[in-house]
Amino acid sequence: MRRHWTCMIGLAAGLALCSGALNAAAAQRWWKGALIYEIYPRSFQDSNGDGIGDLNGITGRLDYIKSLGIDAIWLTPIYPSPQVDFGYDIADYQSVDPKYGTLKDFDRLVAEAKKRNIRIIMDLVLNHTSDMHPWFVASASSRNNPKREWYVWRDGKAAGVPPNNWQSAFGHSAWQYDAKTSQYYYHKFYAQQPDLNWRNPAVQNAMYDVERFWIRRGVAGFRLDAITTLYEDPKLRDETIVRDKAGRPEINAFGDPRLANDRTDNMPGVHDVLRKLRQVADSYPAQQVVLIGETWVGSVGELRKMYGVHNDELQLPMDLQVGFIDKFDTPRFRMLINDAETGIGSNEPLFVLDNHDRPRWDRYGDGVHNADIGRVLSTVIIASRGTAMYYYGDEIGMVTSTPARKQDVRDPVGITGWPKEKGRDGERTPMQWTAAPNAGFSPPGVKTWLPIPPGSVKANVASESGRSDSMLTWFRVLGRLKHDNAALREGDETMLNPGDANVLSWLRKAPDGSAVVAICNFTAKPQMVRFDPKMLGTGSRIAATLLKTPGTEDPVLLSAIPLKPFGVYLLQLR
Ligand code: NOJ
Repeated sequence: MRRHWTCMIGLAAGLALCSGALNAAAAQRWWKGALIYEIYPRSFQDSNGDGIGDLNGITGRLDYIKSLGIDAIWLTPIYPSPQVDFGYDIADYQSVDPKYGTLKDFDRLVAEAKKRNIRIIMDLVLNHTSDMHPWFVASASSRNNPKREWYVWRDGKAAGVPPNNWQSAFGHSAWQYDAKTSQYYYHKFYAQQPDLNWRNPAVQNAMYDVERFWIRRGVAGFRLDAITTLYEDPKLRDETIVRDKAGRPEINAFGDPRLANDRTDNMPGVHDVLRKLRQVADSYPAQQVVLIGETWVGSVGELRKMYGVHNDELQLPMDLQVGFIDKFDTPRFRMLINDAETGIGSNEPLFVLDNHDRPRWDRYGDGVHNADIGRVLSTVIIASRGTAMYYYGDEIGMVTSTPARKQDVRDPVGITGWPKEKGRDGERTPMQWTAAPNAGFSPPGVKTWLPIPPGSVKANVASESGRSDSMLTWFRVLGRLKHDNAALREGDETMLNPGDANVLSWLRKAPDGSAVVAICNFTAKPQMVRFDPKMLGTGSRIAATLLKTPGTEDPVLLSAIPLKPFGVYLLQLR
């Protein structure tokens, strides 16, 4: 190996020196090309020894987060909650659950993060509240209560028959009967998460006030939970049942007929709300508030709409297509990344690889080359044009640790769906800081809310920090390059070698003419990749290595680059 890893890290640091002016320009829209780190607060760092992560734990780890090159943290919900859906069932939108700390702790987190130029993004759950929220308690108390119309109440079709065939995303009917008032209420998620009635202006105003409350407390944005499900068909028509070729209903993991979600998702009205949320956000210009959407849409055309016809809705609807292909399908990655480059106007894509609802990156693993596969995936997500989101722990190679027995499952989705659907505990296990018992997450001897995966002995921050070939070191260099290298920070993107079914490669070209080629072998076999220097727009055949899979040689010629299985190169063109 002619150029050692430490030299590459040195090169990345050197590039940082000339980046001050560029960073100033990027500050205009801080989220452009940014790295956002998703933290599941229950699982990041337990500071008070109760087995559950908390805000002070996060504050204590800000220097670590900074070392990853993170610009903003998305906190999944920290509001007071009965924790049926671990915080996505909110009982008070303007406070902090005592399990996680206090508003004062939150303010300290925001202030300490700010000192490190890290922004805090809150999760805003607008579709539903907890059934313990005072609004719902009032709404359920009688048909005449002023809050009755804050939720979606309907009569059944007949005695014991819900209003229609709508289902909860978490299994079975979406209608819960309330014996006291003899009506059903609608819940897209758990029965303990009744849907708000967004046709009621009072609901809308209450939520815009929640948005203002947190902006005034210093947050730099919101991740809008389940944002496409705010409205339902007012006529309550049945959803279409998805059928197989023989005309039989397809059955989902909960044993219910699969529905097309054509009456409860992406209904008219959503975009009006997005525009209003954006207006509120933009009324605090100094804070540059960003709106991120949980936007499960099926095409780039649909994604484009989430930015708004006049770019006045979400700045960052999540691209949940590229990272979720779930297998190394080179043409599909190429096509979807190209779609994101060409199909959303001048907007910024936001690439996501996984999160607290989906198995971690190791779902792509083959059990043989997992470390190299982790490097491929992080390169695709981070070295592509756009903002990138990374889930805590992926940077050290934490893997999905699905419970083996039903009695160990904490996520109700897994309890309802067992054994076909085992729930989301596997991707929510505690962060692995050290090789000690409880992995440095909780003090030794404390029972942590989910078990510490055995892999923590090897995959942890302490052991990986000093190793040049670790996943953590790879991630840190990649994170730094995304900020400091002009082409990776703000360059446009062109997919290369369109006929290559094995190697995904792309060119990033900055306005100043500098360019980087990213090359990822998507297979378990060695590959040879060839680039025509003319196609790259460079007269030169020489490239400097910015980053490469450990243990590989620097390429000599652009016209013949050998790649090891799942090998990666990031090359600066000269
Ligand atoms: C999406 C969130 O990511 C998920 O964790 C939650 O269960 C549902 N929305 C309901 O809020």
